Amino acid sequence: MPAQLIDGKAIAAAIRERLTQDVAEFRQKTHITPKLAAILVGDDPASQVYVRNKENACAKVGIDSDVFRLPATTTQAELLALVARLNEDSTVHGILVQLPLPDQIHETTVLDAVSAAKDVDCFHPENVGRMAQGRPRFLPCTPHGVQVLLRESGTRLDGAHVVVLGRSEIVGKPVAMMLVQKGETANATVTICHSRTKNLPELTRTADVLIAAIGKPEFVTADMVKPGAVVIDVGINRVGDKLVGDVAFGPVSEVASAITPVPGGVGPMTIAMLLENTLTAARLRSSAR
Ligand code: GUN
Repeated sequence: MPAQLIDGKAIAAAIRERLTQDVAEFRQKTHITPKLAAILVGDDPASQVYVRNKENACAKVGIDSDVFRLPATTTQAELLALVARLNEDSTVHGILVQLPLPDQIHETTVLDAVSAAKDVDCFHPENVGRMAQGRPRFLPCTPHGVQVLLRESGTRLDGAHVVVLGRSEIVGKPVAMMLVQKGETANATVTICHSRTKNLPELTRTADVLIAAIGKPEFVTADMVKPGAVVIDVGINRVGDKLVGDVAFGPVSEVASAITPVPGGVGPMTIAMLLENTLTAARLRSSAR
């Protein structure tokens, strides 16, 4: 029996609908409109699309957004000056620096410069540390999106073996940290695999839930998946004029019990979680005044 499709597009749309009401209530109560500032450096075509999608999503739920499009030749000092200005701007609640950045800019230096209170990507070490300790200010967008997809698809995580493919700071490490926490849609036993992992297919075949976030097109094949496993595909890879995930969707959906498509799986969830974090940032600021 082919796998159940986990429809990220529909789940994200429902979240945006709820957020539209939450944002309206917040505005009515506080007379504050949440605002996201997004910084895009250079002209990477994929990043341009992501930032436009984020801008459009903000508008749909009633969140203001300002997009700063800077040339690829921007210096680190110029970018840091903009971040400092946005940190000080009380009308801006969330700041997002779209990655990747051009080579002349040291990514970590810039991400660390974003005020932890406005760090809606949850990249700042203070926010990563808080999340790891189970007392989050924000949750990282893509990992949180994965967790919500697992919850909405009714996947049992308590005591389940989750195998994460990939150890990136954006997805692999934080999603593993979130799913191992005590709590609902968590309590999993988590294994993180990466390029140095030995006997990878042997490990992935023990997964009740397999999360692929390695950025290699159709890397996960049917023989790597336990029959009945839930497969979450975080990959977005351009192959020719087609977008494919990290999972060979057709063959794997014959083995898995549930699977996310690419596009229309994790991608829309990342943006929905960013909107949620922007509202959270505005709420935190308004209650701190
Ligand atoms: N580039 C790819 N994914 C992301 C993300 O989640 N946030 C930011 N800021 N840049 C990205």
